[in-house]
Amino acid sequence: MSDNGAIIHVREITKRFGDVEAVKGITFDVEKGELFGFLGPNGAGKTTTINILCTLLKPTSGTAVLNGFDVTAKPNDVRRSIGLVFQDPSLDDRLTAWENLQFHALVYGVPTEERLGRIENVLKMVELYERRNDAVKTFSGGMKRRLEIARGLLHYPKVLFLDEPTLGLDPQTRSHIWEYIHELKKREGTTVFLTTHYMDEAENCGRIAIIDHGKIVALDTPDNLKDKVGGDVITVKTDDDGAAKRLIEERYKLEAAVDPHGVSFKVKGGEEFIPSFVKDFERKILSISLRRPTLEDVFLSLTGRAIRDEESGAKDQMRVAAKAWTRRR
Ligand SMILES: Nc1ncnc2c1ncn2[C@@H]1O[C@H](COP(=O)(O)OP(=O)(O)OP(=O)(O)O)[C@@H](O)[C@H]1O
Ligand SMILES: [Mg+2]
Repeated sequence: MSDNGAIIHVREITKRFGDVEAVKGITFDVEKGELFGFLGPNGAGKTTTINILCTLLKPTSGTAVLNGFDVTAKPNDVRRSIGLVFQDPSLDDRLTAWENLQFHALVYGVPTEERLGRIENVLKMVELYERRNDAVKTFSGGMKRRLEIARGLLHYPKVLFLDEPTLGLDPQTRSHIWEYIHELKKREGTTVFLTTHYMDEAENCGRIAIIDHGKIVALDTPDNLKDKVGGDVITVKTDDDGAAKRLIEERYKLEAAVDPHGVSFKVKGGEEFIPSFVKDFERKILSISLRRPTLEDVFLSLTGRAIRDEESGAKDQMRVAAKAWTRRR
């Protein structure tokens, strides 16, 4: 095994559920202290991969080593090294915030003399200390998620797995949760392994793996991924966008598309390109703009799908509603 400071080594992992091959041979490393993002459309295999790394599922083939422990051979050591915040919440609604954490500390064998101090510490970190004696069923969705994060941190894990930690939460709560994640990384050097459907959250990651149909289709820093898309997006509005499109395609051998904003096309080094373009272009230019590609563009070009299409947005809403419904029962 390479010794390059990686805390997670994944080699050729596959996972089959009957006829479905959910994960099709993935290989990657996660560095110590890294904020690593796992992005992919619904059903891509993100949760399955996390579950394998957390020892909740056994891989069909391949190996994964976390904090020096093989996930299949040493599941207990792996579990002691990790914290989990699941896609589906798993708090006990009838217990208070404090009791939920107390129970978790027992399960994870947090030493008795440290237990009270740590519970207090994590509750303060997620600003739930004042509510510590209230039953969790009286909490809002955002508060529950914060409590889950507190619980994931209680035993000071080397690696924290966050599977869509902010799904369905309002923007303020999301940004709040991100403050905790950054603080944790800074203060404790915790490695964070995250899945999200929110591109603005993915921007926080040091590196991002994009997974589609059970395969990793790209793995790099957000900036390098954007560079690979094929440059900056230039949009030019002219007196005749149809004619301008043909002209651009002929002269520069670039693909261009017309929409209500004008004609858009991609070039490398857009800032250098614009002055000569404006000088030489035969049609009257009404406006011109340049933007760096977003992770959204990256995702679209690699998977052919928008990360938050109408359908997955609706599915998220249903998932949130279904969770709320199961919790009430
Ligand atoms: N326990 C299971 N039994 C059968 N099929 C499963 C099981 N768990 C996952 N799958 C299938 O494996 C594939 C990957 O699912 P997974 O939950 O890993 O996707 P995901 O990337 O986390 O998606 P989402 O963004 O919706 O959370 C899907 O086709 C799913 O239906
Ligand atoms: Mg999932």
